Amino acid sequence: MKIRLLCATLAAAVTPAWAGGDAAAEREAMIDLAWKRGCFNCHDVDKKVRGPAWVAVAERYRDDPEAFERLVVKVQQGGRGNWGDDYMSPNRRVPEADIRKLVGWLLTLEGEAEVTDGEAAK
Ligand code: HEC
Repeated sequence: MKIRLLCATLAAAVTPAWAGGDAAAEREAMIDLAWKRGCFNCHDVDKKVRGPAWVAVAERYRDDPEAFERLVVKVQQGGRGNWGDDYMSPNRRVPEADIRKLVGWLLTLEGEAEVTDGEAAK
């Protein structure tokens, strides 16, 4: 009995919040953070705004194990050229830890972007 209880506790401790039933809570927290950090001035989860829909970003880099670090740097420093001519300005005031959280999460997104033809919805 005691052992079983311990196992359950351990499993809960090592399971990331977004792996199980907490996905919705994780999503809510990340969306809040994206608003707070200004990402959603230019992005949406499943729509192109100025920047690409995050589901489209996830789709593009899904099989690229190096994408995460590269994208963290890109979000910090800004840049253009991967999704058209529009420019992502540097997000230097956003703490790196938050950028890592946001990029890590957005790369897990699944689904289809509503606008995929490159036309800005704005
Ligand atoms: C001023 C508008 C703007 C803001 C604010 C912004 N982005 Fe972007 N983002 C863009 C644009 C435009 C692109 C497309 C750049 C390109 O074509 O390479 C982009 C691209 C991206 C990409 C894909 C980069 C690539 O090379 O494929 C990621 C990931 C991303 N943004 C995440 C974020 C996160 C996280 C934040 C908030 C911390 C954020 N963005 C804030 C406009 C913005």
